[in-house]
Amino acid sequence: MKIEVLRIGQRLVRDDRVTTHVTLVSRAFGASKILMYDANPEIKDTISKVNKMWGSDFQVEIIENWKKVLKSKKDESYKIVHLTMYGENINAIENKLKSEDRILIVVGAEKVPREVYDIADYNVAIGNQPHSEISALAILLDRILGGKQLQKKHSNAQREIIPTKKGKRMMDKTITRGNSP
Ligand SMILES: C[S@@+](CC[C@H](N)C(=O)[O-])C[C@H]1O[C@@H](n2cnc3c(N)ncnc32)[C@H](O)[C@@H]1O
Repeated sequence: MKIEVLRIGQRLVRDDRVTTHVTLVSRAFGASKILMYDANPEIKDTISKVNKMWGSDFQVEIIENWKKVLKSKKDESYKIVHLTMYGENINAIENKLKSEDRILIVVGAEKVPREVYDIADYNVAIGNQPHSEISALAILLDRILGGKQLQKKHSNAQREIIPTKKGKRMMDKTITRGNSP
């Protein structure tokens, strides 16, 4: 399944940290790309450093017009999944989402315009209480991918963590031997 994320409504500087976290969650939890506008351009640099060290070719695309993106993704047969506390509860529609081929997840920051609710194929609530776009996105991706994404290894990573009960173990693949910091 191909999953991309569209971040809308963020305010430059004020929301920079949350936008970075939305991007890191998208990458670590199995999406292949995030699209955003009005973003601090440093985000591209940050993510390319993360990709280089920890692997994957996760992409950040800075866009001009999110409405056009929604329309063109629909034309490319993506299903639009809008995360909102007003939507249908994830427990009720998880299985339908799992059966889709291509998904564009829309996450908001400030109030999301009504037209997003209308264009969405699914308005999905991660519970019907207000919380955060970071947690909503993480839980949605985990429900859709069923935890498989948490075991993914990237062949182009420079570093790989060796899970351990205590301490920290890491393989530096550029020198192809294990070490403990
Ligand atoms: C801090 S909330 C602000 C929502 C805003 N007050 C509105 O009415 O659209 C930012 C984003 O977090 C996500 N979010 C927050 N709570 C959620 C929930 N219970 N289920 C799904 N998404 C949620 C939505 O994507 C929302 O646009």
